[in-house]
Amino acid sequence: MGVRNPSSPVVSQRIHVRVPAKINLALCVGSRRVDGFHDLSTVFHAVSLWDDVVAVGRRDGRITLTMSGEGSELLPCDETNLAVRAALLLREQAGEPGLGADLRIEKRVPLAGGMAGGSADAAGALVACARLWGLDVPPGELLALGAQLGSDVPFSLLGGNALGRGRGERLHPLAGAVPLHWVVAAAPDGLSTPAVYRRFDELTAHDGLVPDSGVPTDLIAALESGDPREVAPLLRNDLQAAAVDLHPGLAATLDAGLAVGALAGIVSGSGPTCVFLCADERHAGAVAGGLSSARGVRAVQRVTGPVPGPCAAALPVARV
Ligand code: C5P
Repeated sequence: MGVRNPSSPVVSQRIHVRVPAKINLALCVGSRRVDGFHDLSTVFHAVSLWDDVVAVGRRDGRITLTMSGEGSELLPCDETNLAVRAALLLREQAGEPGLGADLRIEKRVPLAGGMAGGSADAAGALVACARLWGLDVPPGELLALGAQLGSDVPFSLLGGNALGRGRGERLHPLAGAVPLHWVVAAAPDGLSTPAVYRRFDELTAHDGLVPDSGVPTDLIAALESGDPREVAPLLRNDLQAAAVDLHPGLAATLDAGLAVGALAGIVSGSGPTCVFLCADERHAGAVAGGLSSARGVRAVQRVTGPVPGPCAAALPVARV
């Protein structure tokens, strides 16, 4: 990585990046590894629900964060925030301690919802700061930095559809450009990802199940066909039983989605957000309407996927 134009007046720039949420169309979870992570095969699918990240340059080398929107009042804005950590990591890699930025994030992705909102913010900070600071970061290097921040961050940088292996960070882009229509049902609270994985370990051990992280080839083929009726029966989330066990209200949400006619419903990632596949836009409207008054559902949104990953754009220059 190199600083392309270190003398550029970065404080006069405002960079905007929009980063999509993800859902996992398949999440095939293997055994716990010695490093505490689980080997996976997962089909990531970026959907049309975005967090916005804006980065403005600072001359004093500080990196600050302000957040607004969905759940933002519950998040720290200090160096424990994944977006701030992303900016700090990028700056450290660049070896330019004088680089500073004010980050502003407008959140829409449900907090701790299993849709990689925190990873989206980290990915947005990486992309925005790389552009703001004039850093020439090869895509592979950016993905490797993302993987240091979290298992889902590389996909948040990529978007579209992708097979994730390893702990989710080893990506292979997948075909499947035909839009799928989804209804997203957010829960009133969140779930901790490590807690869901722990419960997964306990449940598989208790039931004597052998975790299987094999690649879901049938689903990948169905995704390429673009036919939601082919995709629907192949959606799979091995964490779902653990998420429902920790958050029993999810069983009623999944039932409610099917009762109002969704083709299929699944917990998104480690939950508790549930996503429902619909036949087309009209059908999604009907399912969303039916789910909006369901017990245990805080908010309902219609989204489509796949959508592209983040891309930086310069906003009109702010007076600073
Ligand atoms: O990588 P990330 O920080 O998102 O992971 C959060 C936690 O989720 C990990 O500390 C681990 O407990 C769990 N995890 C896992 N296997 C994965 C990904 C995450 O056990 N493949």
